[in-house]
Amino acid sequence: MYPVRIDSDGLCLREFTEDDIDALLAVYGDPTVTRHMSFEPRNRGQVAATIAMAIRTSTIEPRVEYSLAVAIPDTHLMIGFGRLAIDSGHPAQRSAQIGFALRADQWGRGYGAETVRLLHRLGFAELGMHRIWGARSPDNTVSDRLMRRLGMIEEGRIRGHVLVRDAWRDSIVHSILEDEWTPSTHTDAASQSTVTT
Ligand SMILES: CC(C)(COP(=O)(O)OP(=O)(O)OC[C@H]1O[C@@H](n2cnc3c(N)ncnc32)[C@H](O)[C@@H]1OP(=O)(O)O)[C@@H](O)C(=O)NCCC(=O)NCCS
Repeated sequence: MYPVRIDSDGLCLREFTEDDIDALLAVYGDPTVTRHMSFEPRNRGQVAATIAMAIRTSTIEPRVEYSLAVAIPDTHLMIGFGRLAIDSGHPAQRSAQIGFALRADQWGRGYGAETVRLLHRLGFAELGMHRIWGARSPDNTVSDRLMRRLGMIEEGRIRGHVLVRDAWRDSIVHSILEDEWTPSTHTDAASQSTVTT
């Protein structure tokens, strides 16, 4: 599916463009943002490579990588990165992993929850996924709270999952299944979404 654009009243997920480099640098260049993530803060060149990869993979068929910009439609401000990656394996598994990060000066306004709602909508309503999962650092209490609130049940711990700053780190996995997700139970007045592709 390309191009993807999913809108709610306050936020949208859209394809990246090369003009997003500085805005994404404000996210991935900030150690506050990457504190619980699996990589160190990125410099401008690394962020440019991230965007180039997002653009390149967006048109590969069948598409398995949805690396999307999180933006505020009214102001066009790009505030974050939302990703849905369809798991390799048998297509009938219909399983995808999500990830998300927003620039720190936009935290605490509900944009994180809205980003995850839009990723769920992309995965379940548009791509027909059966299962959507996310992996967080055991110390990432904000992500824990956010995923639980949106119906992503804690499944367990992957031991020694990622190598971060020269040390193995466990991950806690959360998931939601298609029959647990309905737009009505996870949509409020501020998040009536529309999708155009
Ligand atoms: C995780 C992240 C996207 C949340 O974004 P956000 O816009 O602040 O999230 P929201 O405003 O929608 O808040 C989501 C929940 O977290 C809570 N929360 C937000 N900031 C918090 C903080 N500093 N301390 C404690 N709780 C906090 C909110 O109260 C809300 O909980 P509630 O629904 O029970 O009220 C953001 O913190 C971020 O980008 N973090 C760095 C990257 C990251 O950790 N990504 C997740 C990887 S698994």
